[in-house]
Amino acid sequence: MFAKKTIKDLDVRGKKVLVRVDFNVPLSDKKVSDDTRIRAALPTIEYLLEKGAAVILCSHLGRPKGEPKPEFSLRSVAKYLADLIDAQVKFSEDCIGEIAKTAANSLAIGEVLLLENTRFHVGEKKNDPAMAKSLAQLADLFVNDAFGSAHRAHASTTGVADYLPSVAGFLLEKEIQYLGQAIAEPKRPFVAILGGAKVSDKIDVIRNLLVKADAVLIGGGMANTFFKAQGLQVADSLVEDDAVETAKEILGKSDWKLILPIDMVIADQFDKDAEMQTLPVGDVLEGWRILDIGPKSVEFFEEKLADAGTVVWNGPMGVFEFERFAKGTFGLAKVVANSSAITIIGGGDSVAAVNQAGLADKITHISTGGGASLEMLEGKVLPGLAALDDK
Ligand code: 3PG
Repeated sequence: MFAKKTIKDLDVRGKKVLVRVDFNVPLSDKKVSDDTRIRAALPTIEYLLEKGAAVILCSHLGRPKGEPKPEFSLRSVAKYLADLIDAQVKFSEDCIGEIAKTAANSLAIGEVLLLENTRFHVGEKKNDPAMAKSLAQLADLFVNDAFGSAHRAHASTTGVADYLPSVAGFLLEKEIQYLGQAIAEPKRPFVAILGGAKVSDKIDVIRNLLVKADAVLIGGGMANTFFKAQGLQVADSLVEDDAVETAKEILGKSDWKLILPIDMVIADQFDKDAEMQTLPVGDVLEGWRILDIGPKSVEFFEEKLADAGTVVWNGPMGVFEFERFAKGTFGLAKVVANSSAITIIGGGDSVAAVNQAGLADKITHISTGGGASLEMLEGKVLPGLAALDDK
């Protein structure tokens, strides 16, 4: 099923291997505050070291707009990585040019070098061939293990693959296998759950899933736009007026596959201590807003998931950052965790919710990709994958 070469197809002994990872991790006070993406890259890094390679890692961090900015430096990530692996981890202050060349040339087998943020150069996002070539010159082989960035056609994700033998790392392979399988040949019934604030971000996902899935459950702020499209009262709830017509059109074509919440938790203001009430959908009080799905909706969604073979979930059911409005998201997290289906969760917020609920180990696959997993659900080919050598 996986059509690309992987690191298992390469002889890496004695070679310098450039690995694109997604170390775009949250930092607070210049320290890594969530290391999920770093840990997810370890199997590839450790495998390459065990097989006798020297590993050169590159990544972006944040959106520094093509120039060096200290707050987006990967230096603290290098330190963090050094504590996680049993190998020397060096850091290069630039990802291309003389500094990077000198660091790469002096790298010994069994050592790791992390290059500074690729987005400190304008050439990265422009997929400038000169930048791609400079990166490629540092190594003998290229491995893409950055699933989270695989939807970006940048110098370090796709461009570099023009100049080196290029294969997938274990994380990229695993992510594509799970999500690809869920979409192409799901164990049925295949139920998708979509949440989050905006319908506009997920219109193409909804359209694709209405074709591929057996049911699409909608919660979170995006449900409000569908309520408005149905002519229901939404009072001061977040609604994307521009998307109401599209929501109507989708409802018209959804053939009962699209399933909306039946009750909701409303608030008198957008605040963690707001007054709250639980009411049937359509009964929002004047001046109030919907901030969560209600308990009946969680039960209703549970029924829809009861015999599912595959469940894909992306996006929270409400404002779960506020404890009072977190029950819908956490309730659903429990339902998904207890399901005997293949369960796949993507998107920063839903992943954070499952982690906070302590249920991560009950999920079949937690994706490290936000935008990348959405583009897969849209049915798009990811450029970072397409650029790699075919098997
Ligand atoms: C992500 O966090 O989704 C990826 O690292 C991609 O980051 P980007 O949206 O800034 O390209």
